[in-house]
Amino acid sequence: MSDAGTIAIYGAPPSDAVDVPKDATQFSPLMPGASALEQQAEGSLSELVMLAPPGTLERRYVIAQALRALETGAPFTILAPKDRGGTRLRKELQAFGCTVQETPRRHHRIVTGTRPESLTNIDDAIADGGPRLIDDLGVWSQPGVFSWDRLDPGTAMLIEHLPPLRGRGADFGCGIGLLAHAALSTGDVTDILLTDIDRRAIACAEHNVVDPRARFLWADLRSAEISDLDFVIMNAPFHDAGAEDKSLAQQFIKRAALALGKGGVCYMVANRHLPYEAILTPAFKRAALMIETGGYKIYEAHT
Ligand SMILES: C[S@@+](CC[C@H](N)C(=O)[O-])C[C@H]1O[C@@H](n2cnc3c(N)ncnc32)[C@H](O)[C@@H]1O
Repeated sequence: MSDAGTIAIYGAPPSDAVDVPKDATQFSPLMPGASALEQQAEGSLSELVMLAPPGTLERRYVIAQALRALETGAPFTILAPKDRGGTRLRKELQAFGCTVQETPRRHHRIVTGTRPESLTNIDDAIADGGPRLIDDLGVWSQPGVFSWDRLDPGTAMLIEHLPPLRGRGADFGCGIGLLAHAALSTGDVTDILLTDIDRRAIACAEHNVVDPRARFLWADLRSAEISDLDFVIMNAPFHDAGAEDKSLAQQFIKRAALALGKGGVCYMVANRHLPYEAILTPAFKRAALMIETGGYKIYEAHT
């Protein structure tokens, strides 16, 4: 093992469960600016610490990509909460040809080992978890992105009820771009910014929304500076890194109000049980429930 390779970290492994290397390069697609494992040359990583994602296809994909990029003999530590894929890690790594040790700690399973000289089954895992055209939907998607292989009912409802839109707009948390795609065929949209924290979603959206009026931004909306818009559309998230977080949608609402100029409008779909009225009302000049059906609500809010 050379000293020159890159030390890789994936996600935010809890520091009370594993030693988190300093000066490591981040590879999570959910951290804007991070490097991409799939673009990392074979044998270029000298160490890996990974908090593995919960979805099976996504997890096998990122582990296979990481093993491909690790140099022979390089150490890895891969962990996951035991009820979110942790109990499967050992077998998954063994199936890739690795000899591993497993330790339980702080509700996680921690699997350690070194990259063997030859790997098995990684091409299948990379094919199964990579970006692909979903035939039923006719769109590009990838395991791990929001609702990756089916149309989310909230998204479908907002598309169905989207009124004609005009001017400059944005799709906040655009995912693979379905709302923005629908918005571009209504009214008189001059340009639309598709923005999401997930690099894979943005890459799929670039395939799905081929229109000179579309722009794309891989960013965390909680800190992005966006202004002077005429409209915002959103199916706001209420999960951050897998855990329910109502404050995320609340921050999206506040960001939408800041991003809109005077006379702007926001259309938002939300799960019925989530209490967003109290945030919409002070953030906007006026906000109203447009439709409530099938467990979802659509709000219209004006600045
Ligand atoms: C409910 S999904 C909606 C996706 C897409 N608009 C649709 O309707 O199918 C919410 C999206 O917000 C994104 N997201 C979550 N947190 C974010 C953040 N802090 N900044 C930007 N996007 C975020 C997620 O990656 C996800 O794609």
